[in-house]
Amino acid sequence: MVSTQQVEFDRARPDVYGSAHPKALLKVIEEDGDLLHSLENQHIVSVDHLEKDVLIQLFRLAAKYESNPARYNTPLQGKILISAFYEPSTRTRLSFESAWHRLGGDIMSITDRSSTGIAKGESLQDVAEMFNNYGDCVVLRDTANDSVSEMTSSLRIPIINAGNGIDEHPTQAMSDLYTLFKWRPSLLQPHSTDFKPIRIGVIGVPSQMRTVRSLLKMLAHFPDIVEQVVLIFDDSITQPFDPGQLEQLREAGITVTVSHDLNAQLPELDVVYINAIAWVGESYETYGKTFVLSEDSPLKPDAIILHPLARGEELCTSLDDTAHNWYFSQARGAVFVRQALLTCMVQRANTVIDVV
Ligand code: CP
Repeated sequence: MVSTQQVEFDRARPDVYGSAHPKALLKVIEEDGDLLHSLENQHIVSVDHLEKDVLIQLFRLAAKYESNPARYNTPLQGKILISAFYEPSTRTRLSFESAWHRLGGDIMSITDRSSTGIAKGESLQDVAEMFNNYGDCVVLRDTANDSVSEMTSSLRIPIINAGNGIDEHPTQAMSDLYTLFKWRPSLLQPHSTDFKPIRIGVIGVPSQMRTVRSLLKMLAHFPDIVEQVVLIFDDSITQPFDPGQLEQLREAGITVTVSHDLNAQLPELDVVYINAIAWVGESYETYGKTFVLSEDSPLKPDAIILHPLARGEELCTSLDDTAHNWYFSQARGAVFVRQALLTCMVQRANTVIDVV
């Protein structure tokens, strides 16, 4: 039997672990409606297509939603989302659908491509042509890297890439940065002389993991907040990077180093991002046996841990009830980031700009 005290603790937990109040972001970012309007009817395929100032405005709108969730329940009234997930998902599908529902919209959900004409050989272009008639926005997760771009050629409504094979997962990276800025809102303020940029360790395989690929692209938009990115992977991995991945970070002005020794790096890291799953073809591969984070890991006392989840052996549950746990906040915050993005894409930003 669950005691009343236990239930109260669990309900309070998002505020105890990993949830600086989002209102701090409202204070450090000034609202700019024109930048939010620039997302109207835009496809979101890659982090490369996003602009830093637009991202900051999205984080502000997300903080506005998170600060006062009950205030905004109608911005998407009358709009229909087509949620097409052809690969397993807990967080991305449910948080997109939760975001849309919470803002008053309606949803059509496809969780199996074989329930559509694709099973009869219909092309993605023709499916996209039909989607134009049925909805106002598409969120697509597909196992193939090129599925989103195949659909954009026929779509006249905007689409969000919710993970395409080993390529990208842009809204995950938005949620990662939103979490970082809630943790330390001063990163977004004009930097004073004692400003300290952060050292981020990324445990994962950049060439194989879409979350890591999109995160690194996202960090390249914010070089001023990063002192160093330390990429940590097993030395048995023969091709950890795709051409251009390291160059993009370095050209942005970020110092990048590589390590195969997690515990040697941990005492110097402010942020530890870990992932061990790569979706390859119709299944997944795990890289989680070598590097494990637990409450016994030599973390800085104030270091935070991020993980896109789902987790495996690499992230011990002993960390869940510690102040290092910002991965649950990261997953929770994704709802508000997605609310912000969807509102702008379907031309409803005017219903929330200048509203306090
Ligand atoms: N972070 C993430 O993409 O999780 P899901 O696979 O559960 O959507």
